Amino acid sequence: MNADGRTRLNRTPEWTALAKHREELGESGLRELFAADPGRGAGYTLQVGDLYVDHSKHLVTDETLRLLRELAAATDVFGLRDAMFRGEKINVTEDRAVLHTALRAARDAVIEVDGENVVPAVHAVLDRMSAFANRVRSGEWAGHTGQRIKNVVNIGIGGSDLGPAMAYEVLRAFTDRDLTVRFVSNVDGADLHEATRDLDPAQTLFIVASKTFTTIETITNATSARDWLLTELKAGQEAVAKHFVALSTNAGKVAEFGIDPDNMFGFWDWVGGRYSFDSAIGLSLMIAIGPDRFREMLEGFRIVDEHFRTAPAESNVPLLLGLLGVWYGNFHDAQSHAVLPYSHYLSKFTAYLQQLDMESNGKYVGRDGQEVDWQTGPVVWGTPGTNGQHAYYQLIHQGTKLIPADFIGFAEPVAELSDGLRAQHDLLMANFFAQTQALAFGKTPEEVRAEGVPEELVPHKTFKGNHPTTTILARELTPSVLGQLIALYEHKVFVQGAVWNIDSFDQWGVELGKVLAKRVEPALTEGAEVDGLDESTKVLVAKYRELRGR
Ligand code: F6P
Repeated sequence: MNADGRTRLNRTPEWTALAKHREELGESGLRELFAADPGRGAGYTLQVGDLYVDHSKHLVTDETLRLLRELAAATDVFGLRDAMFRGEKINVTEDRAVLHTALRAARDAVIEVDGENVVPAVHAVLDRMSAFANRVRSGEWAGHTGQRIKNVVNIGIGGSDLGPAMAYEVLRAFTDRDLTVRFVSNVDGADLHEATRDLDPAQTLFIVASKTFTTIETITNATSARDWLLTELKAGQEAVAKHFVALSTNAGKVAEFGIDPDNMFGFWDWVGGRYSFDSAIGLSLMIAIGPDRFREMLEGFRIVDEHFRTAPAESNVPLLLGLLGVWYGNFHDAQSHAVLPYSHYLSKFTAYLQQLDMESNGKYVGRDGQEVDWQTGPVVWGTPGTNGQHAYYQLIHQGTKLIPADFIGFAEPVAELSDGLRAQHDLLMANFFAQTQALAFGKTPEEVRAEGVPEELVPHKTFKGNHPTTTILARELTPSVLGQLIALYEHKVFVQGAVWNIDSFDQWGVELGKVLAKRVEPALTEGAEVDGLDESTKVLVAKYRELRGR
């Protein structure tokens, strides 16, 4: 029994039924599943918004999916979902509501936190952001010396960086190409140096993005950026107002830093950092693509929110994707999950998902405070195809690990490509389809022999197949489709956290390292004796000081 009176997940009849079913399925593979059901290719597909989701190449039967849905019902995934959408404080360890869905709610929606409708405030910030973005884009907003802003540098880390940095890449074709937009996150001074070394400070706007406005990396980089700007412009503090804006929930700290509160765009404690990119944190993207495109993206999020909130279990795509992850992580011992976009523009998409998924579900303590004794969040990884094919796909095809993968592709290349480059799209997508085919069905020893391969090479050239993949296909990559994709993964992560009974919205695991870094720093700089430094770290610190000539 859990501390909250629930039966331990892995002792529920639904879990036990899945374990038994897994045994019964044995090693029966995808060739057999397709042979048994000729309609599987078309039948195992769902549609949400513009996303066509094919799950036919999974090691599941109708019975598997039914049993997984029963597990979802037993763990009350939809009950928790409804509580989230209602604004209840489902982030139990921080006693907070979880309302990123309110960030994209329609203007006339009513969503209450502590009895107050939060939607008007969301739209008020969006309107202020739109007005500001338009002023920057039109040149009406001038820098301290009166010059037009041509460069935008977002300074933030984690959820205050990964979302806008990813989306700026994804939507490059929709951006104002006369603007240079860069993202600085690392406390390694090289990051800020490389981002600013060729910029004219008189034409540069810094956006300091930090929910808490206490994150050491961001405040350090913002301070260095301010020093750079004032030194280069030979100006006093008054120049800050024209070159720095803040995105934060902490008005006090923003003012302390010297940014005019009029130049702050706020959000709220019910928006988690990794769920914040469609809040004020998206300002750099909004400046790049313009407010109309940004709102199209929000509408994309909303399509999937509505689907997740209302679609029945059988056709609910985030539910399905979440449950498939449970199936592999808990019943097939899969340790990781690959996300492999076949779009160069999605080059930072998987890095974004790493925070979304791993910071949310990388937990070994349940919502009830008890340790779980089942696997929780997977390692999420991947890079765009076709590059990965020439690097690590070997291990996915013939390694000893089961790695479920999502393949994301588009029917149309991005419109602005030349005809010649557009023609390359079919080759890209031929690889996309070929890979999932090879992963699923492999190549038998008989097929290899039939090609005249010498017997000693037959085992090497055999592909066992049965590597499960989801194919997500859309017509083209638009702001709305990006919103749909992100919301799809947000809700997938939600489903898994709900099944595993963990709080997907806190992140206590990042705290210890932050505290220790603060403690170690004086040992590096001043050679100070630091209490509680372990023997190994002491030796490393001494070596570091020696190498730095201290
Ligand atoms: O350290 C982890 C974290 O708290 C993330 O959850 C968050 O997205 C990131 O740091 C940045 O935090 P902030 O926006 O408060 O600077």
